[in-house]
Amino acid sequence: MIFHQLLNEESGCLSYLIGCGEAGRAVVVDPGRDRVDEYVRLARKKGLRITQIVETHTHADHISGNRDLAAVTKASIALHRSTKAVFEHATVQDGDEIVVGNVVLKVLHTPGHTPDSLCLLVTDGARASEPWFVLTGDTMFIGDVGRPDLGGAEAAGQLWESLQSSLLRLDDTVEIYPAHGAGSLCGRAMSSKTASTIGFERRFNPALRARSKAEFVDLLMAGLPPKPPSFQTIVGKNLGTLPLELPKPRPYTAREAWEAVSAGGACVLDLRDPATYGDGHVPGALNVWIESPQFGDRVGWFATDGAPLILLTHTPSDIDRALRALARVGVDQV
Ligand SMILES: [Fe+2]
Repeated sequence: MIFHQLLNEESGCLSYLIGCGEAGRAVVVDPGRDRVDEYVRLARKKGLRITQIVETHTHADHISGNRDLAAVTKASIALHRSTKAVFEHATVQDGDEIVVGNVVLKVLHTPGHTPDSLCLLVTDGARASEPWFVLTGDTMFIGDVGRPDLGGAEAAGQLWESLQSSLLRLDDTVEIYPAHGAGSLCGRAMSSKTASTIGFERRFNPALRARSKAEFVDLLMAGLPPKPPSFQTIVGKNLGTLPLELPKPRPYTAREAWEAVSAGGACVLDLRDPATYGDGHVPGALNVWIESPQFGDRVGWFATDGAPLILLTHTPSDIDRALRALARVGVDQV
């Protein structure tokens, strides 16, 4: 088996390329929109063809790269059958097996974080007949579980059922690889470690300490962090019900920028460090330093109404970085 975990340092998003060298094929799980070239490059380097793309659920915190990756590789996109996605895809359900040469990814439907959440239990037939690890999506993290944002307490109850009936029945030795690590808005107490085991989480994951469903629901619903306003837009873009555009930036003169802001609608986003911004800035410009952690998510808190952003920086390479980070959170009007 060929296994790669790809971490997006800025957002904490984790995606996976899993392949079989003998079969020369690979599946990509939860591709990020800003990493498509990387999956293609990696697969090529390993002599693999990406033939399938699987989403563990409809993401609300970042734009999926599934359609971009499918366009480049001709791979099919597999989603749980309860998905509301309107773009071309195949559906899978609990118990289905996705076979990539010696590697088998068994679908476990685990509703809770979202109704279409699934985990993938992976067995490498070249090593053993028993499962080696499980991709847990946003159902279980290292040190936390997914937030039940869409369905509130009812979804939290479903998450409890999913954990009890599938993940917590797995052997202690089975490894866990989630869809997010520290720095993500999708959980509260995620570790910066990006892998664990069922046994370790069973013993030490605070979210799994509840002894009853009611206790678990109370624990999950208490102190939920605020939901960024961009979540709804991102879900719409990931389902294909809202258009997915690519920013078409062009240079602005100071006068043009001033006129766009004065006319209303446009907003200047100053990417420079706070001290430089403090020394002098365009009146009304908002400052989100390009080096700040979760840059894209921070901008997503206010850039939700389609108002175009005009980026301002001293360093031209910051523009590309900002565009990638903003594309990841669905901010396309730049
Ligand atoms: Fe999620």
